[in-house]
Amino acid sequence: MGIQVTWYGHSAFCVRIGDALIWVDPFLSDNALTSVSPNEVDAHYILATHGHGDHIGDTVQIAKRTGALVISNFEICNWLQAQGVQKTHAQHIGGGFEHPFGYLKLTIAHHGCYLPDGSYGGAPAGLLLTAENRRIYFAGDTGLFYDMHLIGEEGVDLAVLPIGDNFTMGPHDALRAVRLLEPRVVIPIHYDTFELIKQDPHAWTQRGEEETETQVIVLEPEQSHTV
Ligand code: NI
Ligand code: MN
Repeated sequence: MGIQVTWYGHSAFCVRIGDALIWVDPFLSDNALTSVSPNEVDAHYILATHGHGDHIGDTVQIAKRTGALVISNFEICNWLQAQGVQKTHAQHIGGGFEHPFGYLKLTIAHHGCYLPDGSYGGAPAGLLLTAENRRIYFAGDTGLFYDMHLIGEEGVDLAVLPIGDNFTMGPHDALRAVRLLEPRVVIPIHYDTFELIKQDPHAWTQRGEEETETQVIVLEPEQSHTV
């Protein structure tokens, strides 16, 4: 069984747990790293880490078409309701909930959170998902923070970390995050989408393999990994 994660470039993932399709930060239509259209994807749940356009992405459109339940913070859920999204589940930092697909907890992230129309989006979040006896940590957009050690204490099988620098952790701090989290596997994301966040994920992989005990997996857009 296990959990299959498919990357669509930037921070966009589709997570498959059994028959459930759970999208994370579905930024597709303006994402040059994928040709997958928000008009064609299937979704049962959508998780949005924060309000920035490259994360909330096509959430409204996909949720309206598929009827997917959107899970995010309270402020973003209120905004989604105002956009006509009917099914939302609001959580907030530190709070977890047992959803049909697994237990999802929102974690802190150090970043901004305004929505594309300028509405206030509350605090940005990371996601800690426990299902199928596995734990996946999606850091979202964040700088390095020492409390990643607390997240790592829970036992992380897969950490999904930004390495793009400029708006989030860069390669060096992302390696420090790996040392705090001590995940079994790490997947680097949030790079190469724009000129400002160009990185060499293979150089990062080499450093990760040399300097940590964690296995680094570099995905091509639309490629999957099962954890
Ligand atoms: Ni952001
Ligand atoms: Mn971002």
